[in-house]
This record gives sequence, structure tokens and C-alpha cells, in this order.
Amino acid sequence: MEVVIVPDARAGGELIAEAMASLVCRKPGALLGVATGSTPLPVYEALSAKVRSGAVDMSRARIYQLDEYVGLPAGHPESYRSTVLREVVEPLGLTEDSFFGPDGTAEDVQAACEAYDRALAEAGGVDLQLLGIGTDGHIGFNEPCSSLASRTRIKTLTEQTRVDNARFFDNDIEQVPHHVITQGIGTILEARHLVLLATGEAKADAVAHSVEGPVSAFVPASALQLHPHATVVVDEAAASKLK
Ligand code: F6R
Repeated sequence: MEVVIVPDARAGGELIAEAMASLVCRKPGALLGVATGSTPLPVYEALSAKVRSGAVDMSRARIYQLDEYVGLPAGHPESYRSTVLREVVEPLGLTEDSFFGPDGTAEDVQAACEAYDRALAEAGGVDLQLLGIGTDGHIGFNEPCSSLASRTRIKTLTEQTRVDNARFFDNDIEQVPHHVITQGIGTILEARHLVLLATGEAKADAVAHSVEGPVSAFVPASALQLHPHATVVVDEAAASKLK
């Protein structure tokens, strides 16, 4: 695992966008796995600026969503499908054809999880998976105590994660879904390159436990230590509890 400390979130976004752009230059049909939330926004902004300036042609790239709320109606602005379309797919000049994610509206959630894993395998797997980290150390929505070998499945969000995400739902925790479909930790570890971005002091404990603590299901992001090509990009605030 390599840890890169950058001055701020903008620099982290620029660095990761550069890695994504250079991957797409080498492999135009690369499959990029994307996370949602606040942290990755500087990455998507920097990458779409590169597309607009003509520095990279992303037209053949494919975008796969990491997780999805269960039970939000199709088209809900805070569903992760809507979010990734708005924040990633459209700014990169891509269409829905190049984008795939778990179906959080499916009646048979188990079948939707299996269909997602199958689609991922048939697409050749993820070339670069961008991850954020929860204040409790989750990646995707693999909350503490998730199996390190888990596959895509339904998970229950912890109260802490629902509180953290209430800001996307008018600060009303009642509106935050209880369940999500998320790639499992085992699924995430199959990506060829994992890039975790963490910014801000609120992530400092989770980063320290993930990077310097033991590999443990209590801290799902510590599983990155098992991966042969994992990069953790942290700003100075998120790095502040590293030894
Ligand atoms: C969302 C996801 C989550 C977030 C994490 C951090 O797709 O995978 O693991 O990355 O909850 O969220 P922010 O960046 O909003 O602090």
C-alpha cells in the first residue's frame, strides 16, 4: 500500500484525475469504479476539466457505480444512479450506455446483487476503483464487521453512516434509507488498482486505523493492506493521526 499526502482536497483530486486520465490514455476502454459522497467531487471536477480541455478522450471509458441505496424511487435525486449520472457521467461527456450500477429498485434484491457481480465479471473487472472512507472505516457500504471476503449484497447502514449522510436528505435522518446494495470487500479487492481518497480531520482516525492498524473486519478499509496495488491519498488533515 502506498500513502500519498497532499496539501488539500483539490490537490488530491488533481492527482487521482491524472492517474485516471493516464489509465484511459493507455487503455481507452478502461472500466473506472466510482464512489459517491463529498470526497470524490474534486476528482470528478479535475477529470471533467481534462475532458473539456481535450487533454483526455474518455469516450470509450466505462463507469461502474460502487453502491446504491435500496428503495429510493427510480430518478430520486439522491439515488446513487442519479448522483453518478449528474456528477460523473454527464460532466465526462458520456452516456448512460457506458454506465452501470446495482439496481436498488429491484423487487428481488438478491438477484440484483448477483446480476451486478455477473455484469462486472463479464465487463472484465474494474481497472481502477476510487473509494472514499466512512468515519467508521467503511468502504463502499461495508460497515464494520463486514466479511473481508464478501461479495455484492444488501447491507444495513449503521446509525453513524445515516447521520453522516443526512446532509444529502435535508438533514433529516428519517429520509436516509436503512439499506444499500454494495460491492463486498472481496469484490472491491478484485479491482486491479484501488485508490482511496480521504480528506478532512473527521477521517483522520479511520485513516490511521486502516493504514497502520491490523487488518480487521472491524475496520473494513484495512483490507486495502491485502491488495497488491492500493494507493491511499490523504490531505494533511486526514493524515494528522498517522504516526
Ligand atoms: C459512497 C461510498 C462511501 C463513501 C463514504 C464517505 O459511494 O462508497 O463509502 O465514500 O461514506 O463519504 P463522504 O465522501 O461523503 O464523506
